Amino acid sequence: MSSFAFETGEDFAIAMDERDPLKTYRERFLFPKTADGGDFIYFCGHSLGLQPKTAAAYIEQELKDWAQLGVEGHFRATNPWMPYHKLLTERTAALVGAKPLEVVVMNSLTVNLHLMMVPFYRPTRARHKIVIERGAFPSDQYAVKSQILFHGFDPATSLIELTPLPGEFCLRDEKIEALIEHSGDEIALIMLGGVNYATGQAYDMAGITRAGHARGCVVGFDLAHAAGNLPLKLNEWGPDFAVWCSYKYLNGGPGCVAGCFVHERHARSSELPRFAGWWGHDERARFEVGPDFRAMPGAEGWQLSNPSILSLAVLRASMDIFSEAGMQRLRTKSVMLTSYLEFLLNQRSSSSFSIVTPQEKDRRGAQLSIRIPKNGHALCERLMQEGVAGDWREPDTFRVAPVPLYNSYRDVFRFVQRFNAAIESAAQ
Ligand SMILES: Cc1ncc(COP(=O)(O)O)c(C=O)c1O
Repeated sequence: MSSFAFETGEDFAIAMDERDPLKTYRERFLFPKTADGGDFIYFCGHSLGLQPKTAAAYIEQELKDWAQLGVEGHFRATNPWMPYHKLLTERTAALVGAKPLEVVVMNSLTVNLHLMMVPFYRPTRARHKIVIERGAFPSDQYAVKSQILFHGFDPATSLIELTPLPGEFCLRDEKIEALIEHSGDEIALIMLGGVNYATGQAYDMAGITRAGHARGCVVGFDLAHAAGNLPLKLNEWGPDFAVWCSYKYLNGGPGCVAGCFVHERHARSSELPRFAGWWGHDERARFEVGPDFRAMPGAEGWQLSNPSILSLAVLRASMDIFSEAGMQRLRTKSVMLTSYLEFLLNQRSSSSFSIVTPQEKDRRGAQLSIRIPKNGHALCERLMQEGVAGDWREPDTFRVAPVPLYNSYRDVFRFVQRFNAAIESAAQ
């Protein structure tokens, strides 16, 4: 996208917004307000997406049905609660490039990661290692280390952390594949983020899956920063499982019910061990209080509990908007917005900050990670007080994401103005 002729003036941003086919979607979200009543420049959708204006009505419907019907709402609510999660299946499948059989919304991300490691991390003496990124999100680190310990192994010898070359911040694809090639027969599970939460680097999920499977490894992805950010083709790429949360790019609200993918080749496997619960049991017999568990085929068979309907209601509100906008159109705009942000930031050569996210569009999503070695945290807090939301990751990273669903070119322009002013005043 660097070949696109971006311009530095605000009139360029205004003209781009006028031409933007997705420009009206901004109106469908609630922006936090500054002290003088203006909208925040909200570049924090990689952390918590904004609230759809329709969310309250979707929740209200369920509260009304609950008030009027009580327990009968499970079967007689406007959208009966018993199969409510299925209202999200088709759209979730489309979002991640899966078949409906392969996806389910349930639990939260880390819970799903643990649940997936029950069938998919089965270490033996010869093959017991898990590959993650060095500096993977802490919850992922805790989850994989605790699984290694749970199986009687030692993270010191069973965890491989992929590390960038000295002086670099991102991993090289060829280095990931070389490690898999070299150590493949000791690796039980490769578990990477689709997009690294700190650097914003997107990995070659198809290539990693191919390389891992060729060496007999199980492959899973944490798509927290990829779902709703990048077009995904999980069925085609073929990882064994994937998990993601719904409160970032998917705008499902804080702590929203999460997503889970299990590839169709495992849909009817009776050999895979699982931690079972009644919501994963054959739905035709869910209320027959029999003692024997019979798993639903596909991802639904990994459910444990009846899900939070109020949380799913918000996710429906959001996914209705998301599906209407369409992932491909969102990605087209996202590539432009992020490239424009990069272009404007690069107008100023400064030793005070640098962008660590890869420049190639195929190696990143919406997020840019800006490394600010000195006083960056204070700068980020100052911007937040001024109504400019990004977030800070220790030790030195300011993460910002212009989100194509509700951010504009003008937001990008104004963000860079404010950012430059903050950098200048921090230098004085
Ligand atoms: C990459 C990644 N993994 C895991 C998590 C943890 O998510 P949860 O609290 O929903 O389990 C997050 C949360 O931001 C994340 O960014």
